[in-house]
Amino acid sequence: MTPPPAKPPSPEVPRHVAIIMDGNGRWASQRGKSRLFGHRAGAESLRAVLRACRDHGVDYLTVYAFSTENWVRPKAEVDGLMSLLRTFLRRDEHELHENEVRLHATGRLEGLSPGVRKELFRVIEATRNYDKGHLILALNYGGRTEIVDAACALARKVQAGELEPEAIDEAALSAHMYLPEIPDPDLMIRTSGELRLSNFLLWELSYAEFYFTETLWPDFREEQFAEALAAYAERSRRFGAPS
Ligand code: IPE
Ligand code: IPE
Ligand code: MG
Repeated sequence: MTPPPAKPPSPEVPRHVAIIMDGNGRWASQRGKSRLFGHRAGAESLRAVLRACRDHGVDYLTVYAFSTENWVRPKAEVDGLMSLLRTFLRRDEHELHENEVRLHATGRLEGLSPGVRKELFRVIEATRNYDKGHLILALNYGGRTEIVDAACALARKVQAGELEPEAIDEAALSAHMYLPEIPDPDLMIRTSGELRLSNFLLWELSYAEFYFTETLWPDFREEQFAEALAAYAERSRRFGAPS
């Protein structure tokens, strides 16, 4: 009998960190300000955490910027978030170039407005040859929707006679997710004290370490990110192997 594989090492620094950036609204209301004021402060946290990823050697950062469920928010807030996204793409593009960070987006991007898509695809295209770091924006993203879309893509291939149903395995489904070339997250952070996934990366987070903090997203900067990485470094990732 072949011996079981050696216990996989737990590298101290996660290769891929995924963040549910939550708590902008509460942060703003604590200050008697509009929710959009909170989202603007949240964009500063994203800038800070992106820089911290570079400093700590984290290669991939995925951030949940807008979910498939967030469309139920008031139109003014949705418009404000989309306009903030465009500002981010314009204002921070130079930083992506300086650090050779490649931009990606995940989600049902066809559901975004033409203006947002244009700006988004422009920066994705302009950074496509970089690989010193990767920033993945989850936009109009839903984990269940992503799995449904992958299942549909597989069904179409079976119908076209390009794929045998028996050939559908985990690797085949993974290969039909929105960004199959991106490795699964090692660490998932959620701010603001909420203990749920809210439909984020349901497939990809199956073996990620989870880190929850009460800190609201606009207050989550380099120091708080370093604390999350320190907590991760203490974890023992067993992937089913004995402790
Ligand atoms: C997260 O902050 C940002 C988005 C969902 C876009 P929220 O806007 O959800 O802030 P809270 O949860 O209401 O405090
Ligand atoms: C999750 O936060 C989505 C994003 C951060 C973009 P929400 O604030 O929308 O999640 P719920 O509604 O509290 O679950
Ligand atoms: Mg929230």
